Amino acid sequence: MGNEVKPERKKVMLSGIQPTGVFTLGNYLGAVKNWKQMQEEYDCAYFIADLHSLTVRQEPTVLRRRTTEAFALLLACGIDPQKSLVFIQSHVQNHAELGWILMCASQFGELSRMTQFKDKSSRHADNVNAGLFTYPSLMAADILLYQPDFVPVGADQKQHLEFTRDLVVRMNNLYGNIFRMPEPYIPKNGSKVMSLQEPLKKMSKSDENPNAFITILDEPEVILRKFKRAVTDSETEVVYREGKDGINNLMTIYSAITGRDYDAIAREFEGQGYGTFKTAVGECVAEELRPIRERYKELIEDKVYLQETWTKGADMAEKISGRTLSKVRRKIGLLAK
Ligand code: TRP
Repeated sequence: MGNEVKPERKKVMLSGIQPTGVFTLGNYLGAVKNWKQMQEEYDCAYFIADLHSLTVRQEPTVLRRRTTEAFALLLACGIDPQKSLVFIQSHVQNHAELGWILMCASQFGELSRMTQFKDKSSRHADNVNAGLFTYPSLMAADILLYQPDFVPVGADQKQHLEFTRDLVVRMNNLYGNIFRMPEPYIPKNGSKVMSLQEPLKKMSKSDENPNAFITILDEPEVILRKFKRAVTDSETEVVYREGKDGINNLMTIYSAITGRDYDAIAREFEGQGYGTFKTAVGECVAEELRPIRERYKELIEDKVYLQETWTKGADMAEKISGRTLSKVRRKIGLLAK
């Protein structure tokens, strides 16, 4: 009574993922599994970046389906709408509006230097649209609307986060304190998962060899089979060492799921050869993904629940982001209604 301590503001964490298809084991162990764990410690916001996927040509029915699936996948992976803000980017129009404002603060030169732009514009030479170019400005808007402390991103998005930080400095210098400076968040146990067939390449769902990647909805038999076929080397020892890229990758996966370190894993499989180890990795992955696959099957059948959940998420996201946007509008000189 009268002596309650004001609860400290929890740190805010925000990240987004594009609706490009079922997540791979790489997306899961590298990002989404950590997103789940972070819910306990942080105020988290996670969203499906459907506006970003318009930068490459989309079939409308496929985009709608994939957005629904991506949302269900997030929930199936344990993102809990009671704990975190979960929503779909295009449901919250503030993103597009702040995106425009930030585009007007983004310079042609700096956007031209973005490696993802250079890479995607050479891969989609027939559709080098303006959105592909200003993609980082929209991503900055996604982030800054929620004033997060941390943004967990993989290596491929680090440059975009750096760009966002440059915009914060620029806007805050011009207009006074508008935005909180977001820090990149490198998860303690974020694992980079490589292709099971070419372990020097990142695991990717666009790999033409389906044995190279695991999706989080793969059936246990499929998972076991893919691990049995995983490329290793001509030795026999399960040990983490330079040059043993295939085995290193399997050890990374096994470690991310069981929490055991490389030494413990090496001891566990001492003298047992690769076959036993591959089976063990396959089995632990299949067990880890089983509840996710089962939960996903229920969720994807329950369109009413999904819709209710994303509507609630959008309403809440609109409120939070609206506060930042009003402030920005006022500070930069847009006239009030
Ligand atoms: N560009 C990110 C990707 O392709 C997705 C994304 C969009 C994002 N907006 C974001 C990630 C904001 C973090 C924060 O992976």
